[in-house]
Amino acid sequence: MSLAHDMLARAIRASAPYWAAEYAIVFHYFTNGVRTPQRDIGWITLQMFKEWTGSGVYGKRGVTVNNLIKRAASQIDQIDAGEAIGDLDAISGLLQFAIDEFNHFSLLCKAFLKLDPDGRMSIEQMGDLPEGRRLVELRHAWRDRPNGDLIVELTEGGGLGMYFAVGDAFAHSTQRSDVDELIVRFAQATVTDEIQHMAGRFQRALEADLSREDWEQVDAGLQDQFAQKLRERNQQFGSAFSDEALEHMGADAGAGRAYLRRNLGFLGERLGIPV
Ligand SMILES: [Fe+2]
Ligand SMILES: [Fe+2]
Repeated sequence: MSLAHDMLARAIRASAPYWAAEYAIVFHYFTNGVRTPQRDIGWITLQMFKEWTGSGVYGKRGVTVNNLIKRAASQIDQIDAGEAIGDLDAISGLLQFAIDEFNHFSLLCKAFLKLDPDGRMSIEQMGDLPEGRRLVELRHAWRDRPNGDLIVELTEGGGLGMYFAVGDAFAHSTQRSDVDELIVRFAQATVTDEIQHMAGRFQRALEADLSREDWEQVDAGLQDQFAQKLRERNQQFGSAFSDEALEHMGADAGAGRAYLRRNLGFLGERLGIPV
């Protein structure tokens, strides 16, 4: 196994407890009687902000799904204008990515409008959660460091903890409301799409020719951001866990291993690493 494979496997194992903890937070919300329509509006609108802006994973400050679509469209314009044709796979990859995220946004938006038919909120207002703002700032700070873009992009999707939790929480429900259906469809679409996004990003990290020191930076960056992402998730879903509990969960290697085995076997297979 190459250095890159070895170090990526380590990075995934070190991140897994945070992913398992995201799962636990979201599963708790949907199964422990704390869910209310008002709280649903709260988590859904923050998630809409995250789908639209990426909370720092889509690019520099100000980049949104809208910009990604325009970036792809401007390259398509060049084809229309008879100019040199660029990397077509990159253009369709960018378009597909933007459409996936737009679709996640749109499923949530439909659920939001069912809960609050007259609901009007700007994207900025939707993102107004202190721990969420901190995550955005932290990601931009990491982007300014060596290999920063690569490190930040590896945090997209957070190991899918939230989405697997929704799927499991609703797996045996027989009576689902329209809102429940939309939430389940959102989670399913995200798992399907994010498996591709995640595997692609990890693959690029494998090919990036990073040194051992670079990989140590990757590790530090992932853990720093995933710890903050956990605080964001907790606040997004009603702050059911104390900071102390979150720290404990983020360090629970056993829970991380169990989560990887149960949910993320595809990553190891796709990347050719034992996780
Ligand atoms: Fe998404
Ligand atoms: Fe995504």
